[in-house]
Amino acid sequence: MSNMITATEFWAEQAGRLHWAQPWTRVLDWDGAPFARWFAGGTLNVAYNCIDRHVLDGHGDQVAIHWEGEPGDTRDLTYSDLLADVSRAANTLAGLGLRSGDRVAIYMPMIPEAIVSMLACARLGLVHSVVFAGFSASALRQRVDDAEARLVITSDGQWRRGNAAPLKAAVDEALAEGDSTVEHVLVVRRTGIDTAMTSGRDLWWHETVANASPEHEAQAFDAEHPLFILYTSGTTGKPKGILHTSGGYLTQAAYTHEVVFDHRPGRDVYWCTADIGWVTGHSYIVYGPLANRVTQVVYEGTPNFPDEHRHFEIIEKYGVTIYYTAPTLVRTFMKWGREIPAAHDLTSLRLLGSVGEPINPEAWRWYREVIGGDRTPIVDTWWQTETGAIMISPLPGTANAKPGAAMTPVPGIHAKIVDEDGNDLGDRDADGLLVLTEPWPSMARGIWGDPQRFRETYWDRFASAGWYFAGDGARLDADGDLWIMGRVDDVMNVSGHRISTAEVESALVGHSGVAEAAVVGAADATTGQGIVAFVILTAETADTGADLVHELKAEVSREISPIARPRDIHVVPELPKTRSGKIMRRLLRDVAEGRELGDISTLVDPDVFAAIARR
Ligand code: WTA
Repeated sequence: MSNMITATEFWAEQAGRLHWAQPWTRVLDWDGAPFARWFAGGTLNVAYNCIDRHVLDGHGDQVAIHWEGEPGDTRDLTYSDLLADVSRAANTLAGLGLRSGDRVAIYMPMIPEAIVSMLACARLGLVHSVVFAGFSASALRQRVDDAEARLVITSDGQWRRGNAAPLKAAVDEALAEGDSTVEHVLVVRRTGIDTAMTSGRDLWWHETVANASPEHEAQAFDAEHPLFILYTSGTTGKPKGILHTSGGYLTQAAYTHEVVFDHRPGRDVYWCTADIGWVTGHSYIVYGPLANRVTQVVYEGTPNFPDEHRHFEIIEKYGVTIYYTAPTLVRTFMKWGREIPAAHDLTSLRLLGSVGEPINPEAWRWYREVIGGDRTPIVDTWWQTETGAIMISPLPGTANAKPGAAMTPVPGIHAKIVDEDGNDLGDRDADGLLVLTEPWPSMARGIWGDPQRFRETYWDRFASAGWYFAGDGARLDADGDLWIMGRVDDVMNVSGHRISTAEVESALVGHSGVAEAAVVGAADATTGQGIVAFVILTAETADTGADLVHELKAEVSREISPIARPRDIHVVPELPKTRSGKIMRRLLRDVAEGRELGDISTLVDPDVFAAIARR
């Protein structure tokens, strides 16, 4: 109990970094656990906290965003610019009849209008659901339907390695069949490619937002007013709409952005390389950094366009001091070679961050030595879409971080390692499941439309203790420092993206030639894990002897996203199953990773798997 009191005092102090229109009456209301209410009774406007107050404090001329387009065009947005743009967008959205609580899907590349759209929603109390622009039309439709979005904001196309690829067309495809809740599609002209517009439904940004009034007065909303839904993969085929609210979320996003990155406005130039389609983009490009009056770089494109120097040129050009990226990119840089970063002056960097997957010690050392000039601390930050903000990370200047360790929970956060039955394994030399033992302000407030699934997924496992089960395995070393080992469920982590085996399996069996499919994540030197599928073809297809592998890979890309495209697909005559009919994934993983197989004598045809494993 004393623990709880200290924790609430601590978080009340952190909430003081925000501007509240009305103070809260209760720091934490946990009576409805696992659905928390933080700063109950308080009211605030999230966009006001990210923009207006900085302008009112005299920082209107400070650059908020140095935007770098892929083709080389650039834009600097000051806090005053951001205020005017967000106000225009808010006026436009309000003019479309959108009201507080309505949902808006944002399906956009990394252009300033994407961030402006998120903040305009926040300003009006609209709930945004950002859908990664690499997702397919059908993935977009699924998310639009689940949230019952009234508006989709998109762009005509997006730049990818010098090509303008259509994007609005995917929205048209998504909305083509059957009735949807979408009334309008707001389209930013980014690439200038030919774009069909449906009259009455579709609107150009430059004909609406650009002409709207740049004045808009922000109204305060309840601390628990929903801010956004973000879909993430679970262990079933249906993505979960993780719900986050306002006051607690912004408190922890801002707090962690300051203490973990040792960020100071006016001193730092910050760059988080994530996409706004993922939670890292929400918490560490939009909300946390802007609440802290950041000056940040936002880059639209890929790291190797026009060549592999791009990120290092950007660091040099803007004098980036804090660089936050994913281990998969560090491993890609390693493959490209150290001559590339060595050709640039990277001495402005003083802190490096890592997120999304465990960073292997070799990549950690390379990151620090080659990018960080052997000077910079590295913060390896563990958290999840569901936790909303960073939970476990070394703090620069305090701990002596170990290569590959996420180290310790940040102040205010409480974690434990337990065994399968929930027994506490102590605080030294333990290997088990990671649980969070106390509520935290930026915790998810549920799964959109499915409170029962929220309880079942995260809380039922250790219900009597009231712990949150993260789905990750972790180890405590002899010093009591934490090492995150990765998912213990059927969620894969490919280049830091969460993809469920069930989702890929369902895309594969959706193909008429496939009778059955099993998917596993196999260790991959660059992407962390690679997707490996085993499929049984239908009798008709098998008879034709058609080579379906390419077609199936394309089918998964189309159905979900290119990021879910299997690395390998093995056509097999059977899948290894237990007597009760459960697929033996461990065995498939052994096969996929080329390990010696244990006892496979119960399989109908052991040679098949032995042969694949030898390849
Ligand atoms: C993994 C991304 C090890 C973990 C912010 C978690 C990590 C999942 C780390 C959440 C890290 C994230 N070390 N593993 N520093 N950061 N993970 O929801 O398995 O996209 O459960 O959130 O990524 O992925 P999500």
